[in-house]
Amino acid sequence: MKIWVVLCLALLWLELHNGDCQQVKRRKDVGENRIRPGGKRVKVRQPKPKDAGGKGQSLLTQVLDKGRFLRLGQTTNLTPGKNIELRCKGNNIGWSYPTYLDTFNDSRLSIKQSDKYSQLILTSPSAADTGPYSCWVVLCDGTECEKDHDRAYVSYIYFTDKDNLFVPSAIHFEIVYLRPDSPAVVPCRVTDPQAKVSLHREVPAEEITANDTLVTYDPTKGFVLQSPSPEHQGVFYCKAVTKGTPQVSTMYQLLYVEVPSGPPFVSLEASPDSVRGGDNINVTCTVLGEPEVDVSFTWSYPGQDHRPVHILTSWRLVNRGKAHTTRVSQSVMTVEDMETIDFGNYVCKAKNQHGETIVTIDIISK
Ligand SMILES: *[C@@H]1O[C@H](CO)[C@@H](O)[C@H](O)[C@H]1NC(C)=O
Ligand SMILES: *[C@@H]1O[C@H](CO)[C@@H](O)[C@H](O)[C@H]1NC(C)=O
Ligand SMILES: *[C@@H]1O[C@H](CO)[C@@H](O)[C@H](O)[C@H]1NC(C)=O
Repeated sequence: MKIWVVLCLALLWLELHNGDCQQVKRRKDVGENRIRPGGKRVKVRQPKPKDAGGKGQSLLTQVLDKGRFLRLGQTTNLTPGKNIELRCKGNNIGWSYPTYLDTFNDSRLSIKQSDKYSQLILTSPSAADTGPYSCWVVLCDGTECEKDHDRAYVSYIYFTDKDNLFVPSAIHFEIVYLRPDSPAVVPCRVTDPQAKVSLHREVPAEEITANDTLVTYDPTKGFVLQSPSPEHQGVFYCKAVTKGTPQVSTMYQLLYVEVPSGPPFVSLEASPDSVRGGDNINVTCTVLGEPEVDVSFTWSYPGQDHRPVHILTSWRLVNRGKAHTTRVSQSVMTVEDMETIDFGNYVCKAKNQHGETIVTIDIISK
């Protein structure tokens, strides 16, 4: 009997002990599992490149002569005319470079990805190619890929050209919109970060001095007006000087805009306002809005699909007083020789990036 009891206890003890062991083991497993996927994921390794990044260990390098490499820092000064090769380590790399190179579908630029790195080559760079060049590791999970923001590197490259102190622009007269709620930028960027740059109004001739608060100059952006006001309107240019004669930038027309962002503000009217059969009529749909916001119009009307009408859509900028510039977008529908089927509701739908507005006018026979 006693033996049985002892045996039972022993078995019970073993059981419990085993159970404990297993539990401990299991806990360990859980712990390991918790670490493993994290360790596998490259994202978790972020402290590494970050620490390294702080010491200038960017993955973005420039290939110099004789196979030497130069890690690029935040800014780089290069000479125009000399081909450049940039490399970024990794087997899946994304790039960005001045949009100018894409706009003109420039064949001087080529990008090649190999097993270990990606290569960006720009032949005969010029002052116009000055701008941010950046590369980043692309992380893919199946078909879904994303930029690894912890491993993105950028260098602003100046192609310093003493004959082009300003980064040349394809536009000779640029419009800069000033809004009360956001800083405005007069984009006179320079190719030499050492250049001394000033901002000038044409009429009345006046220099707007950069100070650390309201007006600042950033060679990679231009003059930044922190809180634009109607007084900042006018025609401006920038002037830069290093050693030789000063150079001037393209002209900038600064326009103050006070129309809030939102769906279009639409009005609809008919002219003449009273018609009878046989008359001609113009139905005009007008939108007042921000200068650079495109508006599209869609019409529906009683004689739709049955009779031809003429629709003329246009827009223009209007200075309303000193302080405002408004874009007037208009669509005019002309119906000639009104018939019975032409009387009824004329509906204009105006749409911009923020939304749409629908307005209706009822044309009744006199
Ligand atoms: C840009 O160049 C590429 C190759 O040179 C060509 O396939 C493509 O059609 C071009 N795109 C435009 C918009 O010119
Ligand atoms: C900075 O410049 C603006 C515009 O010229 C001027 O109104 C403002 O008083 C200046 N601020 C300082 C601190 O000098
Ligand atoms: C309609 O508009 C056209 C173009 O603006 C104008 O020539 C015509 O006289 C207008 N017709 C009416 C009936 O207002």
